[in-house]
Amino acid sequence: MVSDDSCSDSPQDEIPNFFSPEVAGCPHATYRRMIDEIPVLRMSGTNVPVISRYEDVMFCLRNPAIFSSDMAEQMSLGTDRPMIPQQIDPPAQTRYRKILDPRFSRKRMIEFEPALRASANQLLDSFSGDNGCDFSQQYAVPLPCQAFLHLFGLPVSDLSLLIELKDGIIRPQVQAKNPLDETEVGAIRASTGKRIYAYFEDLIKDSKKSSRDDLMGYLLNVELDGEKLSHNEILDISFLFILAGLDTVTATISCCIAYLAANSNHREKIAQSPETLEAAIEELLRWETPVAVIPRLVKQDIEIADIPIKKDEMVMLLLGAANIDPAEFEGADEVRFDRSRNRHIAFGAGAHRCLGSHLARMELRVGLEEWHRRIPNYRIRDAEVPVYSPGIRDIQFLPLVWS
Ligand code: HEM
Repeated sequence: MVSDDSCSDSPQDEIPNFFSPEVAGCPHATYRRMIDEIPVLRMSGTNVPVISRYEDVMFCLRNPAIFSSDMAEQMSLGTDRPMIPQQIDPPAQTRYRKILDPRFSRKRMIEFEPALRASANQLLDSFSGDNGCDFSQQYAVPLPCQAFLHLFGLPVSDLSLLIELKDGIIRPQVQAKNPLDETEVGAIRASTGKRIYAYFEDLIKDSKKSSRDDLMGYLLNVELDGEKLSHNEILDISFLFILAGLDTVTATISCCIAYLAANSNHREKIAQSPETLEAAIEELLRWETPVAVIPRLVKQDIEIADIPIKKDEMVMLLLGAANIDPAEFEGADEVRFDRSRNRHIAFGAGAHRCLGSHLARMELRVGLEEWHRRIPNYRIRDAEVPVYSPGIRDIQFLPLVWS
């Protein structure tokens, strides 16, 4: 049984492809079958092994020498060089984390809370007087972009440019005249990549002139063992923030609201007892796991769950399935806001564990707190079924209504 009023179990002989939008919308029954029946499933078509048990996924995440993130060649998204630190393996990656981690601590991120709360309320002011909105485009997309602007000390007037840049790099087909024309789509991604580099080049120039105390000022001045970051290193870190720090939060807050809109008992708990929100967010991160899957490149022949995997194969680590593995989670198929032990891996684990998890948690808490304070009773508009994208479980259109 899955613990979600909007999904139902549909036993089938063949395990459905978790990369389809249908499974992305209601993935738990598929995850369960993968864990129970085929913990290393070779995907039809590509033959890529998909690893689903918590213990196995953790093994891969904790052994970056075998399961490498050095995949810039295989997975380039408009970048000229590997993205830092995500496409670099330890020990080189460790140096970057030593530089970046202190700047992304929980304490540091809480400093941005008042500014983000004001941004959340400005967004809510623009539609809360109506009796409905498209949650995705009117709240879930702009809110993390506002957080990004606060972090870099950039003007709010850059908001639409930032949204255009992140869409142009992540989903260029949306900006194409013909979304099926691969040449046009590739050209949009490549030119957006150049515009992102140019955007940060300008910011670096500006920051050097004005010695600012924001994230760019920090990246320009920080030293580790007497060495500063190079110009290209700063560009490659900044580029990654656009790819890693915007759509992930958008997808997560949308998944949370879609779940709560469809499960009124859980929504009422949050609306009536706001102090449950932090635990609720952790549980919804586990249950929804919006970044459902992450890739790795295998560096030596190895067996996982008795299945041989060859050197140079790509594998997929199915974080979403690992997060409902009953070997790790008691009552794994139930959404429990009062769960006492919740070692979910929605932010990954090991060396590459999400750098922005404290920022993301602050954004989710502020975004959901303000939303429920002002709009406690909401539901998905009649006859609408949210469509989730696979991989990162984003919902492009989420029409909500309230009275
Ligand atoms: C709820 C929102 C978020 C989720 C679910 C999420 C999830 C993840 C996951 C699963 C990874 C591990 C990837 C891997 O091992 O290959 C990761 C890495 C990363 N995330 Fe996040 N993320 C979120 C928000 C953010 C934000 C707001 C930032 C902004 C700075 C960010 C920056 C990064 C970076 C830089 C990495 C790479 C870390 C490294 O390789 O050392 N993330 N994230």
